[in-house]
Amino acid sequence: MRTSAVIASSDTKIGVNPIEWKNVYLPTKSNRSMYRPRRNVVTLGEFIIDRQADFPFAKGELSSLLSDISIAAKIVNNEVNKAGLVNILGEAGAENIQGESQKKLDVFANDQFLAALASGGECAGVASEENDEIILFDGPSSQGKYIVAMDPLDGSSNIDVNVSVGTIFSIYRRKTKNGPATVEDFLQYGSDQVAAGYIVYGSSTMLVYTTGNGVNGFTLDTSIGEFCLSHPNMRIPGGGNIYSVNQGNFVHFPEGVKKYIKSLQIDDKANKKPYSLRYIGSLVSDFHRNLIKGGIYIYPTTLASPKGKLRLMYECNPMAMLVEQAGGKATDGFNDILEIKPTDIHQRCPLYVGSSSMVDEAMQFLKEYSNENMEPQYEVNKK
Ligand code: AHG
Repeated sequence: MRTSAVIASSDTKIGVNPIEWKNVYLPTKSNRSMYRPRRNVVTLGEFIIDRQADFPFAKGELSSLLSDISIAAKIVNNEVNKAGLVNILGEAGAENIQGESQKKLDVFANDQFLAALASGGECAGVASEENDEIILFDGPSSQGKYIVAMDPLDGSSNIDVNVSVGTIFSIYRRKTKNGPATVEDFLQYGSDQVAAGYIVYGSSTMLVYTTGNGVNGFTLDTSIGEFCLSHPNMRIPGGGNIYSVNQGNFVHFPEGVKKYIKSLQIDDKANKKPYSLRYIGSLVSDFHRNLIKGGIYIYPTTLASPKGKLRLMYECNPMAMLVEQAGGKATDGFNDILEIKPTDIHQRCPLYVGSSSMVDEAMQFLKEYSNENMEPQYEVNKK
């Protein structure tokens, strides 16, 4: 296409060899509609602003909060990437409320997310895996309309072996109107979440989130330091042939889970069985793979963890919101995760999450082979 209107002449002092500019043109009136310089990239910041009107209470606070999270994620990503280079591996010395030793990077990630959320002003407080009690912010943030539950660095046992780890977050509108937030602001049903997401620090770093209008994934382009939309409108396949579970605990699983797993391992070509077992041991990474390829992630009750291992508020609930928004399902084996009433910010629960048909089938096995005592005991908002 021919265009006209040279924008730089040989005497333009722009520090570029004028000869190279001879063929650079601006559109004329006549060809303007055809000439539209475009970036093929949508950054997370642009996307959030573009979608702001989707939020029921939109005044920009939730957008700012998501931006704060993405900034902390970039800082944590830098540190995760150089974890093998600097003296950041090893134990920080303390134990978290679960009795697990904290790695230095866990502490660093926790500090970064807390700092980002505290300075943003939209978040009144945080429930974190790394803190026994809720953290309440002071100053203007104390009046923030939102609270966040998070696991700042999930899969921490994988840090020092260079295997993908992640951050999981869950956002609620606080219930109390004024003053500091209270623990009741945190103990809301998963179905009350206004946003949820995770960052996976993997072969590339991705941020995946939902505000209740589908799921979108952004890959960090380290050359420009921006999360760029790479996986718009993510949908989980309705079925799959991958199952993710710590099969080393098999002997301690409920009978229904044992039977379900055995049913996936039979020689049945017509149904693409046996299925593949893929278990990274970082919920975020296992969930992310199954979200894209189709599959089920299971962390059932075991003899060692009779209530399950994962935490309802900052592991199960956010993943449940994401998977449902992507067309999948999340249950504790009997009930929808999002309908469980939390009574403790660090409450544990079993998790069956992934492609709908696979979760349904696992639940059928549990129903068939369970006795009454197996059903988790907590209040559930039955629909
Ligand atoms: P944490 O980050 O506290 O170490 O927990 C990780 C979680 C989850 O990400 C992972 O899928 C699961 O624990 C692994 O547990 P097992 O080692 O028992 O399989």
